[in-house]
Amino acid sequence: MGSDTAATGGARAEESLLLTPGPTPVPDEVREALARPMLNHRGPEFASVYRRVLEGLREPLGVGAEGAVVVFPGSGTGGFEAAVVNLFSPGERVLVLVMGFFGERFAACAKDLGLQVETIEVAWGEAVSPEAVAERLLADVERPESERIRGVLVTHNETSTGAALDLAGVAAAMARVKGHGALLVADSVSGAGGMPVRMADWGVDAVLTASQKAFMVPPGLSILALGPRAKAAASRSRMPRHYWDVRPYLEGWERAITPYTPAVSLFFALEAALARLAREGWENVFARHLRLAAGVRAAGRALGLPPLASDEVASPTVTALRLPEGLDGARLRAELAEREGVVVADGLGPLAGRVIRVSHMGAVGEAELERGIRALARTLVRLGLPADEAAAVRAARAAWAR
Ligand SMILES: Cc1ncc(COP(=O)(O)O)c(C=O)c1O
Repeated sequence: MGSDTAATGGARAEESLLLTPGPTPVPDEVREALARPMLNHRGPEFASVYRRVLEGLREPLGVGAEGAVVVFPGSGTGGFEAAVVNLFSPGERVLVLVMGFFGERFAACAKDLGLQVETIEVAWGEAVSPEAVAERLLADVERPESERIRGVLVTHNETSTGAALDLAGVAAAMARVKGHGALLVADSVSGAGGMPVRMADWGVDAVLTASQKAFMVPPGLSILALGPRAKAAASRSRMPRHYWDVRPYLEGWERAITPYTPAVSLFFALEAALARLAREGWENVFARHLRLAAGVRAAGRALGLPPLASDEVASPTVTALRLPEGLDGARLRAELAEREGVVVADGLGPLAGRVIRVSHMGAVGEAELERGIRALARTLVRLGLPADEAAAVRAARAAWAR
């Protein structure tokens, strides 16, 4: 059993092993926190929990002294809506970087809410380069101010492909385009908590994420962090908004009062999860994810299932492994789940049936991933493919030892 399991207290051996990229396994101490008795969300006890959670989120998101964190009851997609309605006004232009399914969804959300959407698209499995963003903004700076692109909306970690964006690089490239004030808004639903996000240092204006991925909490919390420029934009925006309006949250923060009923039990869970991750140390958490990713990628190659994304853009939290032509992906996943108790995710959109997606974020360690790799190898053999379980495990362990 690897040391990571001691650190993460991942899924129990007798349970089926959830290796889907959200929801992810919930460690015991987080589950226990969910069972705490209910309390008055307007009382001092909840106020302390609320404060600790908002404080605890600042480090993994790199919010900085002038930023703020808002937590809504909701899923990640709610964070898209919250970002769009608070940061922009009807008819404004935004540039969306589309690297897969979730980039497409972010673009669709912005369009549905009345923004003019332009995109930079790359093949699924690749990442948009910072230079491409700079080039687009350089051309845009020629336009009159009132017509310029107001925001660049990006997917930090594209869960559908396992490709990560160089978010720091995009922020730096945008800063080099003098006189262009577009806001940088990042969907880090499957990144935050598993890979560094340094909003203030990098110059990212807003980051949205959710509870059910690297934060190891059940689904139900939508988290939106705002830097100073985003806070100013929220007070200027002319977009109709009510439930997703951040202003009442920002006004209530000093008194630790939420405008509406918060998801109290999920706050208990997130408080426990953040305490556990902080004990491990955020830099160690990020390093662990990178190491685990390398092992899964090596094992995939050894099994004849190469990662879709290249090493240069590999996600630390999720890997999409390509399936050989002719292999029935649905059957592979069903056999894995039913006979081995290991649950992985299908591809999304055009990748459905063509890849499997294996999560290595949150409360999974080497022991769980080794179980998953062994189960995958046995299942491939059962389906008639020449997979070598021992070689796959050796490849993963070699990567984890580095
Ligand atoms: C990168 C990314 N963005 C957005 C979402 C949408 O989140 P939700 O399904 O919680 O609404 C997901 C969910 O998997 C995601 O991975």
